[in-house]
Amino acid sequence: MSASLISFAYIAAAVCFILGLKLLGSPTTARRGNLLSALGMGIAVVVALLDKQILSYEYILAGILIGALLGTLAARLVAMTAMPEMVALFNGFGGLASLLVGWAALATLLASGGAVPPFTRASVFASILIGGLAFTGSLLAYGKLSEILPGRPFVYPGQRVVNGLIVLAVLACAGLFMADAANSNWLYLAVGLALLLGIMFVLPIGGGDMPVVIALLNSFSGVAAAAAGFAIGNILLIVAGSLVGASGIILTTIMCKAMNRSLANVLFSGFGAVRSAANGPAVERGEVKPISAEDAYFILEAASSVVIIPGYGLAVAQAQHAVRELQQILQAHGCEAVFAIHPVAGRMPGHMNVLLAEADVPYDLLLEMEQVNPRMDSFDVAVVIGANDVVNPAAHEIESSPIYGMPIIEADRARTVFVLKRSMASGFAGIDNPLFFKDNTRMLFGDAKKTLGDLIKAFD
Ligand code: TAP
Repeated sequence: MSASLISFAYIAAAVCFILGLKLLGSPTTARRGNLLSALGMGIAVVVALLDKQILSYEYILAGILIGALLGTLAARLVAMTAMPEMVALFNGFGGLASLLVGWAALATLLASGGAVPPFTRASVFASILIGGLAFTGSLLAYGKLSEILPGRPFVYPGQRVVNGLIVLAVLACAGLFMADAANSNWLYLAVGLALLLGIMFVLPIGGGDMPVVIALLNSFSGVAAAAAGFAIGNILLIVAGSLVGASGIILTTIMCKAMNRSLANVLFSGFGAVRSAANGPAVERGEVKPISAEDAYFILEAASSVVIIPGYGLAVAQAQHAVRELQQILQAHGCEAVFAIHPVAGRMPGHMNVLLAEADVPYDLLLEMEQVNPRMDSFDVAVVIGANDVVNPAAHEIESSPIYGMPIIEADRARTVFVLKRSMASGFAGIDNPLFFKDNTRMLFGDAKKTLGDLIKAFD
């Protein structure tokens, strides 16, 4: 295959990746985006194989077959709600692949007796370090998120000093490796330190923050792939790695902003271990007004516009089908019934979208926070289902609150607010919620699925 044809194919693959990413930005085009990106990857694999003098295709074909089989099984068998765990595993193996590619690039250069230029040394070291960190970090994140391992942050006295010493050892190892890349002791030490760093990095972070960590590790695995691309001189690997690195860091930033927390706070504060001690300022507790499903029915029945605000409790109660049924009933009664989705509602990016898609809720009924807040006053009823932090008005009202400044769905501005939850317990952030004490709020205590069932029955 001529060099220009190969370059052309690489550009075509890069264009597929970029357009694929663009199409992934909307639920209606996401499938096409996925297919286009897969096509780009297919072109990349074939062309990379034709570009190199391959001695034997046996192992490569076996690898492709095993990979395709595992990928197909994972895509078919893994539940939608377990996607973050799967992404964590994929990131981890992406990181491991980059580590191995960097290592192999060095071994090939050394075996051929050629010199290893400083830039290649740096690329190899970066691919090993970042790839190794992404590998063990992602495995630990997988363990915490899937609750195979305890999700609480693991903190101990002197942890920062220990981590600081590991980072210093990495820097020293980098210097020694750059000075003498042929000495395999430095290479082994780099691999060991990279694997250790990944574990130490994720240990102090709580299970609830794992989605942010996974997005960050995703970005790391992209950077490691780009470094491996430099090490073996493959432009497409550099492009693909950079795209993954950039999109991962953008997603990380979006999640941190939506939680009104800095990345440093997510990574180093041991959030979850300290939050019970720092519950935030006491909220002025007014009267809590519980209401029965029968009474709530009369208000809903008379409403002409209702906004449903789901949160983590909807996932716990597995009430997505019940809420869809209620939404359809309201619509059949001539009421406008839409959903308002906060970007960090639940415990993973797109958690609510995935749940509601499972219950066949049409995308056009899902409004984003920015769309719904300006018209919140016009809703007769806001039905808050298992959401707490994402509707907490302390974010606007209480300057000393840990979530002050966090963008929320302003449910309290609707004429009447129903809150469906089991108790007065706090949500993920562990802080009180003044919404529950507002004049226009009525509490519907109980499991969300059961309460929704009672509301649906009342409409019969
Ligand atoms: P939360 O603030 O965590 O509140 C969930 C509420 O659901 C709880 O107060 C709980 O109250 C209620 N609940 C639990 N099980 C229920 C059931 N079976 N029936 C009815 N209610 C139930 O949830 P949120 O408002 O969705 O906020 C998400 C939080 O997670 C934010 O603080 C966010 O920053 C954080 N977070 C999100 C992400 C992503 S990417 N989404 C990542 C990391 C962290 P009861 O116990 O009284 O029922």
